[in-house]
Amino acid sequence: MRVLTGIQPSGTPHIGNLFGAMLPVINLSKEHEAFIFIADLHAMTTVHRAEELSKNVLNVAIDYLALGLNPEKAVFYRQSDITGHTELAWSLGCLAPMGLLERCHSYKDKIAKGMEANVGLFYYPVLMASDILLYDADIVPVGKDQKQHVEVTRDLGQKFNNNYGDTFKIPDVKISEETGIIPGIDGQKMSKSYGNTLEIFAPEKDLRKKIMSIKTDSKGVDEPKNPDENIIYAIAKLFMNSEELSLFREKFLKGGTGYGDMKKELADKVLDYLKPYREKREELAKNPEQVKILLQNGAQKAQKIASEKLNLIKKRVGLAI
Ligand code: ADP
Ligand code: TRP
Repeated sequence: MRVLTGIQPSGTPHIGNLFGAMLPVINLSKEHEAFIFIADLHAMTTVHRAEELSKNVLNVAIDYLALGLNPEKAVFYRQSDITGHTELAWSLGCLAPMGLLERCHSYKDKIAKGMEANVGLFYYPVLMASDILLYDADIVPVGKDQKQHVEVTRDLGQKFNNNYGDTFKIPDVKISEETGIIPGIDGQKMSKSYGNTLEIFAPEKDLRKKIMSIKTDSKGVDEPKNPDENIIYAIAKLFMNSEELSLFREKFLKGGTGYGDMKKELADKVLDYLKPYREKREELAKNPEQVKILLQNGAQKAQKIASEKLNLIKKRVGLAI
């Protein structure tokens, strides 16, 4: 079974991304044949500064490698290294009804937020379909917000197959939602856009400071507290094993421990948990050239499959004369 997913290179990752997207993808890649690429062409729909784009791409590669993505096992590459993605996108675009793309939420939402309506943004789902179909992926793990794009992929794959003859595997979507929504330090969904994140790789001092500023009610030290309505506890669930968690829960229920002490305990746990990842990241960041080589090696592996498929596609559509 072939698993394939794309990662948007967008800023510094937080623990919502970690548990909601990054670790699940890395875990899938341990069990299955996996293609994982950095969607730098998709990022171009919104990032228009060269330096920012290239920096983000390298950073996200380092992040994933630090978190345990094994480039020997998964094919890990940059989308733009494989020109077949844009080539196939053209063939798919020529079969895609305008209405299908006009209905895509991601495009409609961005427009509604007042973002620039460039053609790239409109074409985004066609490129994504191309990313997936080019490799005959069986399963595409994505967040809920991307479900519709995988449906468009299925639709376009089917249209191509019907029109030109059986060419593509029609993929299934896998929505990663086991972890549910991880709250930020203010209790809303943790998100870059709310400024309420705990960043995985922030300096220790900053991370501690952020944890110390988690929002709580005003219960005093001696009072019993409700763990099930508490952000400290909700975040602790991700970082403590069941034994630690039941001791921590007791502290809430019994009273006698203030929120300040609980936050300190949580901060120690979070830093303990993240330590190996943070150390690995520091190591990798010292040698970005090595990371670039890893990506190039990944691109070579992806290219073999993409080239073969592209030859077939050209025959099918009449571009091979
Ligand atoms: P942000 O909201 O910070 O911009 P993204 O939209 O870039 O985050 O999220 C990338 C992926 O990370 C999402 O598809 C989702 O799977 C996961 N994710 C983001 N925030 C959370 C969260 N608070 N809880 C669980 N998963 C999350
Ligand atoms: N659009 C996806 C996102 O924003 C990233 C992506 C690009 C992708 N191409 C893909 C995901 C192909 C899965 C398969 O998260």
